[in-house]
Amino acid sequence: MKKQQICVIGAGIMGLSSALHIQEICPESDVTIIADKLSPNTTSDVSAGFWMPHLVGSTPPEKIRSWSQSTWDHMTTLAHSKQASELGACLVSGYLLSPVKLDLPFYSDQVLGFREATQKEITKFPGAKYGFFYTTVMIEVRRYLPWLMKRFKERGGKVQQRKLSSLTELSGQYEIVVNCPGVQARQLVGDKSVESVRGQIIRVRAPWLKTFLTVTNENPDFLDAYVFPGAQEVVLGGIAQVGDWDLQHRKVDREYLWKKCTTLLPSLQNAEMVKDWTGLRPVRTSVRLEVEYLPLGDRSMTIVHCYGHSGSGVTLHWGCAKEVADVVKRELNQDRNKLSKL
Ligand SMILES: Cc1cc2nc3c(=O)[nH]c(=O)nc-3n(C[C@H](O)[C@H](O)[C@H](O)COP(=O)(O)OP(=O)(O)OC[C@H]3O[C@@H](n4cnc5c(N)ncnc54)[C@H](O)[C@@H]3O)c2cc1C
Ligand SMILES: *[C@@H]1O[C@H](CO)[C@@H](O)[C@H](O)[C@H]1NC(C)=O
Repeated sequence: MKKQQICVIGAGIMGLSSALHIQEICPESDVTIIADKLSPNTTSDVSAGFWMPHLVGSTPPEKIRSWSQSTWDHMTTLAHSKQASELGACLVSGYLLSPVKLDLPFYSDQVLGFREATQKEITKFPGAKYGFFYTTVMIEVRRYLPWLMKRFKERGGKVQQRKLSSLTELSGQYEIVVNCPGVQARQLVGDKSVESVRGQIIRVRAPWLKTFLTVTNENPDFLDAYVFPGAQEVVLGGIAQVGDWDLQHRKVDREYLWKKCTTLLPSLQNAEMVKDWTGLRPVRTSVRLEVEYLPLGDRSMTIVHCYGHSGSGVTLHWGCAKEVADVVKRELNQDRNKLSKL
């Protein structure tokens, strides 16, 4: 029997992890990734790789919970495996701080050792009045993506590096198209509910920093500043510019971040700057993970969309990829049933 052809658009964290899951549960299919940008040039590469659900709009909370839980299990398994050093996967403990009293985050029972920070702890950080302390997990996405890609190719996966201007270009070539274009969904499928929220970060070398810090304002979804000590470098961030599509690093943003983070943590002043990174968060009213039958003349094309993960793409990726693969498998079986009835 001819193998079923499946196309995955995108080689960010969503595209790669979806492609791998599809190979795993649909071994009778050939999977091809089409992407104009590959690691290290995707948005996913810019990400701090920190597990924390946030900015997820009105996505149903039970969805966020199950996708993030499945990803948590996967990331902590990696952090405890012998791959941890290769992937920079590690547990990190630290503070979520705020000038106002925050509600308990819904993920407080998903992370480890969640508790309120004591007054003694909080007075160490200028401007903070309230806070929590907990342990979560991080990964170096720039090392994780090539690792996923290697496994995808080992299982026979193919990659085409090119830009699509429309999904109809793929007409008649694939049984199913999985659409993981990140923020570019706005252009590729004309989804106007996708908006860019630009982020710029600085990676620095500061091996003496062992504790993460996230500082919010009144809106716990907006991080005023964060400092994430990863396996190799510390990520400094806190920029979220709505509707900004500019991928150039800006000096003014870097200076703002530097000032903010060194005020919070004066020990950073002697850190060595490694690199600026800029990326566009694919913010949407809610994550889009669903099937669409796109009419094409007298036929239709089956698309499984998976985009709009905002500031939580890493935190949700493994659970979403699993669900994408389940949907693909279900759609393939339905196709077979249709054929066998003819
Ligand atoms: C500064 C910053 C820090 C972040 N930190 C975190 C964090 O700590 N934790 C967390 O969970 N999330 C974080 N995020 C969010 C996270 O990075 C994103 O949610 C995630 O990367 C989205 O992944 P994706 O695979 O959907 O998109 P992308 O990584 O953007 O991948 C999209 C892919 O689709 C391809 N593509 C798009 N359009 C086309 C087309 N027309 N033709 C061909 N190919 C196309 C692209 O080339 C690319 O390969 C951060 C984001 C930013 C900007
Ligand atoms: C990433 O982008 C740089 C700069 O545009 C380019 O030189 C490099 O070839 C790209 N890498 C990949 C894997 O596409």
